[in-house]
Amino acid sequence: MDFHKLQVKTIKKLTTNSVEITFDIPEELIPAYHFKSGQYITLDMDGARRDYSLCTSPLDKKWSIGIKAVSNGFVSHFLNSELKEGDFLRVSTPNGRFGIPSKPNEKRTLLAFAAGSGITPILSIIRYTLQTEEWVNFYLFYSNKTPKDVMFLEEIEKLRDEYPKNFFPHLFYTQHKLEDWLFEGRLNAHKFELILNQLVDINEVDEAMVCGPNEMIQEISNEILKAGIPKKHIHFELFTIDSNPLDILPEELDSPDEVQVMVELDGEVSEAIWNREKNLIDSLLDAGIDAPYSCKGGICSSCMCKLEEGEVVLGENFILTDSDIEEGMILACISRPKTDKIKINFDDV
Ligand code: FES
Repeated sequence: MDFHKLQVKTIKKLTTNSVEITFDIPEELIPAYHFKSGQYITLDMDGARRDYSLCTSPLDKKWSIGIKAVSNGFVSHFLNSELKEGDFLRVSTPNGRFGIPSKPNEKRTLLAFAAGSGITPILSIIRYTLQTEEWVNFYLFYSNKTPKDVMFLEEIEKLRDEYPKNFFPHLFYTQHKLEDWLFEGRLNAHKFELILNQLVDINEVDEAMVCGPNEMIQEISNEILKAGIPKKHIHFELFTIDSNPLDILPEELDSPDEVQVMVELDGEVSEAIWNREKNLIDSLLDAGIDAPYSCKGGICSSCMCKLEEGEVVLGENFILTDSDIEEGMILACISRPKTDKIKINFDDV
């Protein structure tokens, strides 16, 4: 995860409280900023880091993020109200594992459920898939409070008109009356059942994606699983964690007070002391090691590393698959030590 100062090329108002920011990427940095649809970049605002999904397709050669101002979110408010075109921001290279495999030669059906700013990575995936898959059926179910709150509405309508045989967007409103009550209310288990009855045949679905608040992800993912879609074909991206990151560290009463840590990062090996009062990322940062991180809450995967020696206990994790765990991957921000020496490697992931 490398950071560079990038210039803001354009800022476009999407709704009263959201904007699309496009960055100018200098020619020499384009290879480093190559991304897969569904990935995010991290902004570093004087040490406060925030992840924002890219909403463009990798084929567009355009790097844009959509940001909704959230209550008490000083970074999102700054980006919405104070940032100007021409300003510079510290922006990481793209990261993240949300997305679906590309299958340009197959006829397949994809479902995406999004709420609010959860549309941003989904829009990137929609754009790229429509550009590359001639036979795809892509259904979008997107929920907002009212039509005025829909981020990228113009873009969604444009894609619908451009790909009428492939793209089927459906918008839902929680605070807006409609003639058809199917499209009123939150995306929840009940709504999912109605969608399956009236809009899409679940037997034809190959992959499903969900992006939005925690509660919606859990409810909809669960319903998709119950409807018969295998877990490995259900993809989700959490946008916020509801708990304090320290609360999701596992209880480990026998943790040693201090752990000696050997760290391999960018080809160099360094040492640090991991104090049990802190998470591993903060201990590495205290030791002057530029460990990659963003959310510090087990949702972004920036701090993924391989545990090569010693043992840790992982907290609740939304990212690592069973095979990652078998390969020894951990998330440094939500691990607790079990042994007094460990070795981790950020390069071999
Ligand atoms: S910093 Fe986000 S998962 Fe660890």
